[in-house]
Amino acid sequence: MIIPSILSANFAFIGDSIKRIENGGIEAIHVDIMDGHFVPNLTFGPELIRSIKKLTSVSLDVHLMIDNPHSMLKFFIDYGSDWLSIHVESSPHLNKIINNIKKNNRKAGVALNPATSLSSIDEIIEEVDFVLLMSVNPGFEAQNFINSTLKKITKLKEIVLKKNLKVEIEVDGGIGIDNIEKIIDAGADLLVIGSSIFKSADPLESYIKFKEIEEKKRKLNLR
Ligand code: DX5
Ligand code: ZN
Repeated sequence: MIIPSILSANFAFIGDSIKRIENGGIEAIHVDIMDGHFVPNLTFGPELIRSIKKLTSVSLDVHLMIDNPHSMLKFFIDYGSDWLSIHVESSPHLNKIINNIKKNNRKAGVALNPATSLSSIDEIIEEVDFVLLMSVNPGFEAQNFINSTLKKITKLKEIVLKKNLKVEIEVDGGIGIDNIEKIIDAGADLLVIGSSIFKSADPLESYIKFKEIEEKKRKLNLR
């Protein structure tokens, strides 16, 4: 699945930006929540989730890049997040938070920064619906894809298959036309794309192009 990230949209026209690509058949929108502490940037709070929820029926994939995620979790759940990812580096009570998300019938994900090892999720992987692997240091759009992520994706895919889990692998940061196929081949299921969609001349056309590449690639890989 290709998931456009509104971090790269014009913040003065977020609703319009979403509406414009919705016709392309998007299934989810990625919303980056940054608090200026966990990451060196500030973005949105739960109110934006509530506003977007009224505007669109596509799933809201909310990526929490905040300290103390448990303190605000209720708002993000109540205001309409469909998927919520929590950074392993941000909480000593991951199990409690993940189970809380699932109890509320939302999809629960655990997110890992590029320098965080997969071993850090050994004890939680069987509890989550998806794992978000950051392929840039979180905080900003349009950074270069960190190539060591490819090995990490492959390793995680092996773990998921070996344990026979239904866990999906989401990759976030630096994805573009030049590397998307390699990332799919490595084992990514969900591809978050910000600047390569919203900063392009025609975001809808870019989304459709990524979708076509993805579908073609997956068909080939099935053979
Ligand atoms: C980065 C965010 C990403 C960002 C990706 O901290 O988590 O979701 O939107 O943007 P691109 O695709 O431009 O790297
Ligand atoms: Zn993100």
